[in-house]
Amino acid sequence: MKKIIVIPGDGVGKEITQAAQLVLTKVSEKFSLDLTFEEHIAGGAAIDAVGVPLPDETLEACRNGDAILFGAVGGKKWDNVDPSIRPEKALLGIRKAMGLYANLRPVKVFDCLAEKSPLKTELVRGVDMIIVRELVGGIYFGERCESEIKNGVEQAWDTEIYSVPEIERISKLAFESAESRRKKVTSVDKANILATSRLWRKTVANLSKNYSDIELDNLYVDNAAMQLALNPKQFDVIVTSNMFGDILSDEAAVITGSIGMMPSASIGELTSFYEPIHGSAPDIAGLGIANPIGTILSAAMLLRYSLKNESAAQSIENAVDKVLADGLRTPDIYDDGTKKVSTEEMAQAIKDRI
Ligand code: IPM
Ligand code: MN
Repeated sequence: MKKIIVIPGDGVGKEITQAAQLVLTKVSEKFSLDLTFEEHIAGGAAIDAVGVPLPDETLEACRNGDAILFGAVGGKKWDNVDPSIRPEKALLGIRKAMGLYANLRPVKVFDCLAEKSPLKTELVRGVDMIIVRELVGGIYFGERCESEIKNGVEQAWDTEIYSVPEIERISKLAFESAESRRKKVTSVDKANILATSRLWRKTVANLSKNYSDIELDNLYVDNAAMQLALNPKQFDVIVTSNMFGDILSDEAAVITGSIGMMPSASIGELTSFYEPIHGSAPDIAGLGIANPIGTILSAAMLLRYSLKNESAAQSIENAVDKVLADGLRTPDIYDDGTKKVSTEEMAQAIKDRI
């Protein structure tokens, strides 16, 4: 038996995780995986219920699960709560407590949706890259000061620390991912300015000696941001720090023009965590129109990375390709000549094609 911890969170979280569970249940039957699901609260839902965004029981459940399927957290309702209990703290808390050191964000343009991209279709058609973002270190978790008075003026500061083992661990995963892809790693840093970036660049270069068949390229983050918009097809695997990865992965998501379709995995040593990259979309919550595909493809990543079942993962990805080819679209990706469906109808259609 494999226990999947499901954390719907807030906003559309409930609908999209339910949709993914419907599909996973079908895959479980077909591939005899014996999956079970256990639901827990986090984010605003948890603030309302117990006063904190990440209750101990939820974290404990994550520790005992085989994998975590997450919806989204946050919403206007909790915008003004104390910073120490913001819904986002649930995410950061799970990442840190579970040691989810690598955030994988595949950026793949679906052929039939290439025209949805705000970039020129010929630039984006065929884009297929993965961003490997360090997730439990760097400036996100360094020492900081919210406010202090120095020389009579108020100031604040954050610090970024990276150690060689932290850089090696994430880069190793990037090189390994490249092995089964187009064998190119682009490491992104700001080595012309930052000490952490210089150590990053040196460490990645040393490690690359173990991967002689992989081409390694280094880009400064400002240039990388530009290259993503100018010529996104040049990228295969991008590896970068927590902060740079946060920014670049949002930019990269726009290339596809269909953020509702984008999955992610956060890989840890003990367990891993899967979520769509879009947020909780409170404005459409409960209307049954959210696109469940980002979550369903995250479930496919769960099967691939946590359950090591490549065929089960592919069965979901192929089913998604089929529903798109059949013209089914949730409102966010709808165009004339296609068929508009609800969250549930989309999930059902994917399930039926497995
Ligand atoms: C993300 C989000 C989070 C981050 C926030 C919600 C803490 O933007 O997963 O990219 O900054 O890492
Ligand atoms: Mn982000």
